[in-house]
Amino acid sequence: MTPLQLAARIVSRSSIDNPADMVLRQTLFRRRGLSPSDTTWVSRAVFSYFRWERWLASDRPLESRIEDGMRLAARFAADPKAFSNDELVRNTLPEWAAAHMPITPELARAFQREPQLWLRSRPEFSEELANRLRDVQAGPFPDAYQYSGREDLFLDRGFQAGQFEIQDVASQAVGRICAPRNGEVWWDACAGEGGKTLHLSALMGGKSLIWASDRAGWRLDRLRQRAGRAKCFNYRAVHWDGSEHPPTKTRFDGILLDAPCSGLGTWGRNPHSRWTTTVQDVEELAAIQRQLLQNVADSLKPGGRLIYAVCTLSHAETSGVADWFTQERSDFDTLAVVNPFQPDEPPVTQLHLWPQDTAGNGMFIAAWKKL
Ligand SMILES: C[S@@+](CC[C@H](N)C(=O)[O-])C[C@H]1O[C@@H](n2cnc3c(N)ncnc32)[C@H](O)[C@@H]1O
Repeated sequence: MTPLQLAARIVSRSSIDNPADMVLRQTLFRRRGLSPSDTTWVSRAVFSYFRWERWLASDRPLESRIEDGMRLAARFAADPKAFSNDELVRNTLPEWAAAHMPITPELARAFQREPQLWLRSRPEFSEELANRLRDVQAGPFPDAYQYSGREDLFLDRGFQAGQFEIQDVASQAVGRICAPRNGEVWWDACAGEGGKTLHLSALMGGKSLIWASDRAGWRLDRLRQRAGRAKCFNYRAVHWDGSEHPPTKTRFDGILLDAPCSGLGTWGRNPHSRWTTTVQDVEELAAIQRQLLQNVADSLKPGGRLIYAVCTLSHAETSGVADWFTQERSDFDTLAVVNPFQPDEPPVTQLHLWPQDTAGNGMFIAAWKKL
């Protein structure tokens, strides 16, 4: 099977129940013998297809449309001005999105660009990483690096030894905003596969303790594997289903709620989800986020910090949820945070990180202090 045929198979099998990124991952896993350059080509072909889908003529055969998508991606990369703001705003996102998030030409352009790959080094390996790996550039804050090479980093010996993680730069900003201090005890309540748990641990110098919970056991298994590789030992992984019963009676210095969300901020990296996410998802998830915030809030010590983060940009899930919590809980004060990308700007209580400003995913962060 040629790479083009493989890409067509992946596209045709992708659906609302089988997201393209999952089908791609599973297919490439089954075809581990594929050369790195073919693997990269197939990934780019599949994502370009969904990114440029609105431009593709539906009467052309699928393989031709995939090739057209690749040509559009190349044209946009070489000459972004060849595409007008109007056509980008009109075709980049589904119709319903305009009523739920501000869609500017800059955002549409950011979503059409091929995403950047970001690395986060453990602090003690930063210098080695920068010297050893080719095609890395220093990012906007310490330990963040942009990678523009074509190597399979999962095979890199530094990666396998846990010297660095692949982590989007906006996610790294969340850890920096948490800024856990040595000796504090934190709860990473929706820890998933541990991207932010590992970052919090590194920021604490591997000392003190982080409770990492999730409702998905398989995600916690991945977290344990990743923590082992990263030599992160100051965590406790526990099941928590999001209910009003926290996994422990501990009162925390800090809680990170990196809540499940509609993921609108990842539409650049994962364009298929533009066409499968619905208004209903946004509304249902906003209700879940409010509930989760309520359910974690009482586990903070007086003076403790609560950080709410979502990789989405819908009003309902961002300022909607944050304003609701501020109104609902008079025992919390809003806490102003510094934007790690703009450290000289005044702190804000609600921070939107836009993909066009960060070259990462879109992200929203709000913070409070328990009185
Ligand atoms: C945005 S992801 C977390 C990503 C993770 N913090 C990281 O940095 O890698 C949200 C997580 O919330 C979990 N989740 C979804 N619904 C939940 C619920 N009702 N209660 C608890 N966890 C939930 C999901 O399993 C998922 O791992």
